[in-house]
Amino acid sequence: MKAAITATGRYFPDREVSNAYFYEDLGLDTSEDWIVSRTGIQTRRLADVSKGETCSFMATRAAEACLRDAGLEAGDLDAIVVATVTPDQPLPSVACFTQAALGAQGFAFDLVAACSGFVYGLDVCAAMVESGRAKRVMFIGADHMSSILDFNDRNTCILFGDAAGAVLIEQVPDDHPGTIHPSILRADGKGAKHLQIPAGGGRLPIDAGVLAERMNKVKQEGRVVFRHAVSSIVKVVQQYFAEQELTVDDIDLFIPHQANRRIIEAAADKLRVPREKTVITIDRFANTTAASIPTALDLAREEGRVMKGDRLLFATFGAGFTWGAQTVTWGL
Ligand code: UT7
Repeated sequence: MKAAITATGRYFPDREVSNAYFYEDLGLDTSEDWIVSRTGIQTRRLADVSKGETCSFMATRAAEACLRDAGLEAGDLDAIVVATVTPDQPLPSVACFTQAALGAQGFAFDLVAACSGFVYGLDVCAAMVESGRAKRVMFIGADHMSSILDFNDRNTCILFGDAAGAVLIEQVPDDHPGTIHPSILRADGKGAKHLQIPAGGGRLPIDAGVLAERMNKVKQEGRVVFRHAVSSIVKVVQQYFAEQELTVDDIDLFIPHQANRRIIEAAADKLRVPREKTVITIDRFANTTAASIPTALDLAREEGRVMKGDRLLFATFGAGFTWGAQTVTWGL
């Protein structure tokens, strides 16, 4: 039995926040030039919690769009899996809130792999479908990054946006044109200290001191993460090509995690992927963590950049450290 992506959907909050918000409204010591030249980000969408825009809200909207694309109802799903690091609340999972909001049944759980959540989760969901444990899985990458950002920290708060992207993963016959191919997933827990939220778990519960130091918010050593991101993505994709007996010419579209335009372009150049085959959305939506690849995929489809039979390459790097590469053959 094989698994394929058979539909996609996305959700971005309406509230658009330009770079000027950070230096004009928040008064941070940053500038349009710094943000655009160092990251490629021009604008991003941020959720409005006062209107109920939480992670599960965005996940539900993306899943609804995906169901519409598939021509299916929520009751047709066997499972809902959400890759996220920004749940509505510590317990229960975003997937359970999403299941209730959709009116779906079956099992539901979250998966934590930060910016690698989509690539990790795609592999987990494909394996469940290939093994016959589920026939139809709604897999959503959703992150409400603005809920874990320190808006006094110019090193991190300018980098992220909020979004959800969904894919339907289904069992398909062997002669179906679409396939989710094997992945390579990697992790190195020694990288934890370079990109983390130090408090809010068992090690350092929230108290007044934690809040004062904003230890419950994202901390990143950007330069260290940048260096690891480029070299790890290049290495894992080269290894993937070798294992799967592919060359860069077999790839029709490269959809990398959107952390920094310079990371994407450096990796694409080293891998010799031409610009026209590289999907970049960071300029419009910033880094949306687990949502960046599935939303970029859905946007690329809408823009007519994904054709039946195309081989798509996903590659990612994020907190953990976690990273990986995967390809799918497009069947729609
Ligand atoms: O998706 C999860 C994985 N995350 C990533 O892959 C992110 C990887 N890292 C990056 O994308 C980049 O490292 C950043 C965009 C975060 C930073 O860019 P950089 O070119 O690596 O800058 P830097 O951290 O080396 O900082 C250079 C200077 C520093 O000042 P000094 O020490 O040279 O005086 C920073 O304090 O830029 C300063 N800086 C800023 N200046 C204006 C840092 N943030 C800002 C800012 N505006 N927003």
